[in-house]
Amino acid sequence: MSLQISDLIAQMTLEEKAALCTGETAWTTSGVERLGLESAFVSDGPHGLRRVAVVPSLMAEAIPATCFPVAAALSASWNVDLAHELGQAIAQEAIDIHVDIVLGPGMNIKRSPLCGRNFEYFSEDPLLAGKMASALVDGIQSKGVGACVKHFAVNNQETRRFTVDAIVDDRALHEIYLAGFEIAIRESNPWTVMCAYNSVNGTFAAENHYLLTEVLRDQWGFEGFVMSDWGAVHDRVAGIKAGLELEMPGPSPDRTQAVVDAVNAGELDMATLNQAVERLLKVILRAQETPKGGGTIDVAGHHALAQRIASECLVLLKNEDNVLPLDGNERVAVIGKAAKNPVFQGGGSSHINATRTDSALDFLRQRSEVQYAVGDASVDLDQAAIDEAVTIANGADVALLFIALPESVESEGYDRDNLYLTPQQVALIHAVAAANPRVVVILNNGSAIDMHSWINDVDAIIEAWLPGQAGAGAIVDVLFGDVNPSGKLGETFPIKLSDTPCHLSFPGEQDIVRYGEGIFVGYRGYDALEREVLFPFGYGLSYTQFEYSNLHVSAIDFDLGQALQVTLDVTNVGEVAGKEVVQLYVADVESRLPRPVKELKAFAKVALEPGETKQVTLTLDDRAFMYYDPNYSQWVAEAGEFDLLVGSSAADTRLTTRVNLTEGTPLPSNIALNSTLNEWLADPEGAELAKPLLDKFFGEEESDSLGVDMLTFFQDLPLPQVLRFTGEDDSDKNPDEIVKDLVDKVHARSMHKIQA
Ligand code: GLC
Repeated sequence: MSLQISDLIAQMTLEEKAALCTGETAWTTSGVERLGLESAFVSDGPHGLRRVAVVPSLMAEAIPATCFPVAAALSASWNVDLAHELGQAIAQEAIDIHVDIVLGPGMNIKRSPLCGRNFEYFSEDPLLAGKMASALVDGIQSKGVGACVKHFAVNNQETRRFTVDAIVDDRALHEIYLAGFEIAIRESNPWTVMCAYNSVNGTFAAENHYLLTEVLRDQWGFEGFVMSDWGAVHDRVAGIKAGLELEMPGPSPDRTQAVVDAVNAGELDMATLNQAVERLLKVILRAQETPKGGGTIDVAGHHALAQRIASECLVLLKNEDNVLPLDGNERVAVIGKAAKNPVFQGGGSSHINATRTDSALDFLRQRSEVQYAVGDASVDLDQAAIDEAVTIANGADVALLFIALPESVESEGYDRDNLYLTPQQVALIHAVAAANPRVVVILNNGSAIDMHSWINDVDAIIEAWLPGQAGAGAIVDVLFGDVNPSGKLGETFPIKLSDTPCHLSFPGEQDIVRYGEGIFVGYRGYDALEREVLFPFGYGLSYTQFEYSNLHVSAIDFDLGQALQVTLDVTNVGEVAGKEVVQLYVADVESRLPRPVKELKAFAKVALEPGETKQVTLTLDDRAFMYYDPNYSQWVAEAGEFDLLVGSSAADTRLTTRVNLTEGTPLPSNIALNSTLNEWLADPEGAELAKPLLDKFFGEEESDSLGVDMLTFFQDLPLPQVLRFTGEDDSDKNPDEIVKDLVDKVHARSMHKIQA
C-alpha cells in the first residue's frame, strides 16, 4: 500500500490534494475518480451506527442498527472484554451497512455531572475511560473498520462548546484530560481522532499544534489522521499546519481553495500538504480493504448481545432488607412511562434508529401479577397521575418505579443546570413510597442525579443508565435475580451539586472556563476536599458478598522499569454466583507537588461461584507511580513510599500494603538564578553547594529581632535577594554573579550524575 500511496500522491493535482482535506459530503471523504480512489464513509457512533440512508444529507433518517448500552453504562461494567465484544458487533454492522470509520468512542472526562453528553462518556477517571475506550477501539478495528476517539481534547461541557476556551494547567491537562486518550492511542492505535470544537488554552483544538502534533504524534506516536468535529474548523490552513488532516463536514469549496491559494502563495509547504494527504490515504485505503455493504444486520443476535452487555452495566445502589431479587410471587405495581416506553439512549448525534426495543412492562407481565400506571407522563405536577400510581401501589406487594430523565433534560448540545429529577418524578416517588412498604427505583440517566430528597423513602435503587435497546430485559433479569448485578459506578454521585469540585467554575463565564480544580476531579476532588458523597466512584452492590485476602506484591523495594505484580484472593462468601470488580488505587505517601489522596491504577473483574476463591493479578507499571511535572514537561516518579489500596470501591479499601521506589526519575537540576532558598535546599546538588554560603549568613542562631527562624522567613526569597538582604560578603562579585556561578556548578554536577 505504501507504494500505492506515494504513487497516488505523485499523480494527484494540488486541487485534488486540497479537496481530500475536506469532506466530499457530510459523511464521506473526497474520492479521486480518475485515480480510482473511492470515498470513505464515516458514521456516528459511538454505541451503535447512525448511518444516514441518504447522502449527502446531514440529518437524514438513519438506517436501522443495534443501539447498544451507552458509554456511561458500558464503563459501569468495568469489563473490557465486553467492550471489545461490543466494538466487534458495531464493526460487523458497519461492514453490513457500509461504514468505513465509526465515529466513536467518545471519551471525554466527566468533569461535572451536569455535562449533557456525559451519557456518551465513560468516567471521571482517565484510567477507566482509557481502558474501556481502548477495548472498544480494538474490537472495532479487529474487523478492519476504523474507530475515532473523540473529542480531542478538554471538551467537558456542552455549554458554548463551539466557542468556549478551556483554560487548564499542564498537570490537569496531562494527568486527567489527555491521559485516557493517551491510553487508547498508545494501546490501540485508533485509525482516527476527532478534534473538539473548543479552544484549549487559547487555541482552537482544530488548530492546536501542541495537541495535534506535539502531544498526539511526537509524544504518543499516533499514526492515523485527525478529523474535525462537524463545523469545528475556523482556519483550514492553520489546521493542516497544526495536524488536522480532514475538515468535516464537506463540501467546503472555499476551504479547499484557501489551501490551494496558501500553497501557491508559499504560505503552506507542499510537503506539509503531502503529509496530510498521506495520512488520509493510509487510513482510507486500509479501511477500504475491508469489503462493505450488501449484508444484513444480525438483529436478533446483536439484540441478545446488547442485553447481555447491559446486564453487566446495571449498578445496584441500594437494596435494603434485600428487597431484591423478586421471586415472581409478588403482586407488582409497575409505575413510570419508561417501563412502557423505554428510555435507552441519549439525544443528539449518537441517536440511533434502533432495530427493535423491549419494554420492561411486557417482560414483567410475563413473570408476575402486574398493575401499571404511567405516573410521570408530564414533567410538571400531575396529581391525577400520582393518585393513579398510589392506588395501584396500595394494592401491591412491591412497587417498581421506572424513573428516566427526559431527553429534554440531558442531551448533546446543552448541559443540565441541576441534578434533580423532574418535579413530577420527585412527587411521584414520595407518594408511592408513602403507599407501599417495598419500593424499588430503576433509573435511566446518563450521569449522576440528586437523590437526597427521596433516597431514604425507597428500599432499592438500580442505576440502569441508558442501557440500549435491550436494556429492559437486562433490568428485569436483575430484578428477578436471573442476573446478579455486577456494575460499579464510573463516576461519583455527589450528595448535592455544590459539592462537585468544579462547581464554582462550571460551565464558566461566556467563552472562558477555568479548570480551577486542576487534577482534583471526581473522587480525586472529593478525597482532597474530605467531602462526603452519596455513592463513591467504583461503588456497586451485589446479591452476594465478596471477601479479599492474601495480598502479595512481587517486590516491596522496587526500581523504575520493574513492573509490580499485585496478587490477592477474592472469595464469594454468599449464596449466589456473582462478579466482583477489584480496584487497585495507588497513594503517594510524600511528594514534591500536591497529589490526589489515591488514584485508580489497575482493576480486574472476576466471576465467582458461591464459595469459590480465585487469585486476581494486577500489574503496576512505572506510570502508576508518576505525575506530570510542568517544570520538566514530562511524567516523573519520585523515590519514596507508596501505599497500594485494594478494594471494592474508592471508599471501600479491603487490603493495603506499602512499597518503596528506590530511585526516582533521573532529572536534571532546574535550579536557576531566581530559584528560591527553599528550592536550593530541596535540590540535592543545590543544597550542598549553597550550604557554605547559607551557613555563613544564617549560622546557628535560630531567630533574631524578628522573632522568627530566619531560614523559614526567607524560604521563598530568590537566593540573590537573600544574599543582598543578609549583607556584605567578601566576594568581589555581586550576588547575581555569585548565584550564577553556583547555578552552573549545580547543573554540571547534576548532568554528570545523570550520565554516570
Ligand atoms: C457532532 C458531535 C460529534 C459527531 C459529529 C458528527 O456535533 O460533536 O460527536 O461525531 O458531530 O455527527
